[in-house]
Amino acid sequence: MAYVKFFDTTLRDGEQSPGVALNTQQKLDIAHALARLKVDIIEAGFPITSQGDFECVNEIAKQVRGPVIAALARTHRADIERAAEAIAPAEKGRIHVFTSASDVHLEHMLRKTRAEVLALSDEMVRYARTFVEDVEFSAQDCMRADPEFVYELVRVAIAAGATTVNVPDTTGYGTPHDYGALIRSIFDNVPEAAGITISTHCHDDLGMATANTLAAVENGATQVEVTINGIGERAGNTALEEVAMALYTRRDHYGHDIGIDTRELYRTSRLVSRYTGMMVQPNKAVVGENAFAHEAGIHQDGVIKHKSTYEIMNAELVGREAGVLVMGKHSGRNAFRQRLAELGYEGLAKEQLDALFTQFKALADVKQSVTSEDLRALVENQLVKVAETYRLEHVQFQSGSGGMTPQALVRLRTPEEVVEATATGSGPVDAAFSALRSITPVPFELESYDLKAIGSGTDALGEVTIRVAAGDRTLYGRAISTDVVQASVLAYVDVMNKLAAGAGRSKAEARSITMSL
Ligand code: KIV
Ligand code: ZN
Repeated sequence: MAYVKFFDTTLRDGEQSPGVALNTQQKLDIAHALARLKVDIIEAGFPITSQGDFECVNEIAKQVRGPVIAALARTHRADIERAAEAIAPAEKGRIHVFTSASDVHLEHMLRKTRAEVLALSDEMVRYARTFVEDVEFSAQDCMRADPEFVYELVRVAIAAGATTVNVPDTTGYGTPHDYGALIRSIFDNVPEAAGITISTHCHDDLGMATANTLAAVENGATQVEVTINGIGERAGNTALEEVAMALYTRRDHYGHDIGIDTRELYRTSRLVSRYTGMMVQPNKAVVGENAFAHEAGIHQDGVIKHKSTYEIMNAELVGREAGVLVMGKHSGRNAFRQRLAELGYEGLAKEQLDALFTQFKALADVKQSVTSEDLRALVENQLVKVAETYRLEHVQFQSGSGGMTPQALVRLRTPEEVVEATATGSGPVDAAFSALRSITPVPFELESYDLKAIGSGTDALGEVTIRVAAGDRTLYGRAISTDVVQASVLAYVDVMNKLAAGAGRSKAEARSITMSL
């Protein structure tokens, strides 16, 4: 049985999602989570792009054990040197050198001939091999390239010492049939490919990334490049959780082994969603809120009689559990710590644990049952907190039917003083946001507002996520509370704190590294 390696690029391609900017600690947390998930390779970043990116890759290389740590580099000497330096402390390191294959990229972006691209690829893969034994080579946009040129690139890269050759469908143009056929034809036309790893890298522009990746596996690819929750450029990359569960659940069909610890999937998905601010759609396969929910009467009846009537995999297998009562207001600190450890949150600092226990007690006072989902939300909310320049002191609102104008009062503590504002609006959230706007020193524009309940019941925690544009920056704010107006105000304050901390990546920064390959 062939083994399929999982190459996770959440921290590199995933971080290229619009509006996403992770700090070093968040990247480290995600890298540790990926190691627990037992991915084979972590692409930790693109070190030449900034000092910050270099440091993140370097820290991950120092601290994360288990997976191979990869760093991306263009076919430039300086990129390769920087990548080599960043991954030097890794237990196992890889340099991932990339160029382009399609004529449209060569003509308009690289401004190089095919012969020049071949020569440079040969030279730079050889150069990368002088630093590490594990070198991956990618040529962007293979799906729209002349297959004969793709074969030539693969041949040259292997001859130069590449141990993995990746075949990206950078623009998400392929169909499962085309992409599978391209992978097969590489083995047919370049016999040396049998001696190395052929890898897939699919984007989801037409919603076919997972299908294309699996088609490639059926045709001989033994590495899949994926991201948690499928985040990434434009419509994103292939979702790790989908490919993992497809290969696991349909081993009968694919016949491959994988190393992924599927029980870590849900937790890792939640962590990435929280850190990036990108919500997972409820009907998302494997990790979406509804992925294991049965709504129709016939389905519920079937599942109660026998789970397998409507379930092809069970929730526990991907690390989810039913929203059972776990703690109440009489639960003590030890029980609380133990329950957190059972949920995988170990090693929290004493101050974090104290703050969480206080929040848990406050929640248990207003909510009948505190579930595992609630506890996860509390912990993850606590973990992503930035320094509190602004703190919500008080929020009060009134609204009602019969022509009453919704009104809100908000009181904030700033480093200098306590400020208060009152405003009216179309509803209490609108009124509270108007009040906050009059206090906010740096103006920003609300681009989206999402509210979702964690668990069921009218006393459920409400989770509010907002996306804002502040000049050239995009930021996400998130907060939870059983009071949805308060959660909304806290999400807004979260953005104010992030702005004060200089978080958020500008579109200009995101574009700053040109593809002058
Ligand atoms: O989509 C793509 O082609 C890439 C390469 C850098 C591998 O992300
Ligand atoms: Zn990509």
